[in-house]
Amino acid sequence: MRVDKAAGAIGAYVGGVSLAEAAASNDLFQALREALLEHQVLFLREQDISPGEYQAFARRFGQVEGHPAYDTVPGAPDVQILESTPEAPSKIEVWHTDMTFRTAPPAITLLHGQVIPPYGGDTLWASISAAYEGLSEPMRQLVDGLEAVHDFRHGFQESLAEPGGAERLAPAIAENPPVTHPVVVTHPETGRKVLYVNALFTTRIVGLTGNESRMLLDFLYRHIVTEEYTVRLSWAPRTVAIWDNRSTQHKPVNDFFPQHRKMHRITIAGDRPVRLAA
Ligand SMILES: [Fe+2]
Repeated sequence: MRVDKAAGAIGAYVGGVSLAEAAASNDLFQALREALLEHQVLFLREQDISPGEYQAFARRFGQVEGHPAYDTVPGAPDVQILESTPEAPSKIEVWHTDMTFRTAPPAITLLHGQVIPPYGGDTLWASISAAYEGLSEPMRQLVDGLEAVHDFRHGFQESLAEPGGAERLAPAIAENPPVTHPVVVTHPETGRKVLYVNALFTTRIVGLTGNESRMLLDFLYRHIVTEEYTVRLSWAPRTVAIWDNRSTQHKPVNDFFPQHRKMHRITIAGDRPVRLAA
């Protein structure tokens, strides 16, 4: 197995390993897991694996979980289908950490490229630990003790506004009332602190006025996506990306309409984000 950094702060290409092999080997799996903690997002090319093999590999990371808004692959119930077509184009194009509207958002997300258009549709990731570490000491002190509200409805507002959208999403909304997370969270495995607010799901910082909250969130959102904290992947069919959702944000670049794209996603359950005393 070979690991090559893809950018300065985040990301690595992993070669010489099939995820089907890694599903069967403790040593290979541990090496991949450690590379993931260090590099935060891993890219693996030409992964000829079935949905069953993909699911078997992903299950080694922990408890797989579902998503209220997506269908799954027949026979591989852990594998969610993310599909974008001319009739139903992808709508999410905002930087985010996955599913922070949950009390315990996923720890790890995996994507396996199925149908990839010839151009467009890259994904970007940003390191929210590098972003925290890039703040000045006075700014760290300001954000360290704060908490923010995250809300499912905020991320799905376009879908909610569509005809029938409110009815379709009503059960998901009822199951996912707004939650509060610390603005600065300690990564449970690396101990690094991360900036845990995102433009898709965070609605406000608790205790600040509306203006203060908007100003601070706008600053943090821009700061997190500073180019030096990011990496960009150009997908090919069979590419797999695995990211640590506790130390990253990502942004799907929505520039491939009306082309068809299909991805297989698996998410691994995580713990409730907490901030530990330094
Ligand atoms: Fe996402």
